[in-house]
Amino acid sequence: MPETPVLFVLNGPNLNLLGEREPEIYGRETLEDVRGICERAAPDWRVDFRQTNHEGVLVDWVQEARIAAQALVINPAAYTHTSIALLDALKTLSIPVVECHLSDPAAREAFRHHSYVALVAAKTVAGHGARGYELAVRAAVELAQERGLA
Ligand code: DQA
Repeated sequence: MPETPVLFVLNGPNLNLLGEREPEIYGRETLEDVRGICERAAPDWRVDFRQTNHEGVLVDWVQEARIAAQALVINPAAYTHTSIALLDALKTLSIPVVECHLSDPAAREAFRHHSYVALVAAKTVAGHGARGYELAVRAAVELAQERGLA
């Protein structure tokens, strides 16, 4: 067990535009604001916070989390609803996975109702805006502690 446990917070496509992108749906906080929320929610952890627009990069980072992290929070954005590759990567993890969405996809268009990630996530937080990341990080930390990983 490492001295300082590591939490990966992975963000998928278009979340780099948070604050500018459809603020009526996703809120006015930027991704940097979200990073701060995550860091404050897990003061005893090292938070490795990342964003990519590329599906394969997300898969690479999930594989990296197998070795480097004790818990994972992921907002896969649109890949939530499409990516079997991401699901397969997440299935290789033995650390807790918490799925996080700013909006509530279940209350939006039908094509957002299905989540591949939900098949492996220990918990899903949705519809709480940027504050949802705080809830997701706390849940991931608690789950890791329950499992004796941190
Ligand atoms: C999202 C919801 C997804 O349906 C959408 O494609 C996103 C963001 C959210 O955080 O609410 O890009 O994951």
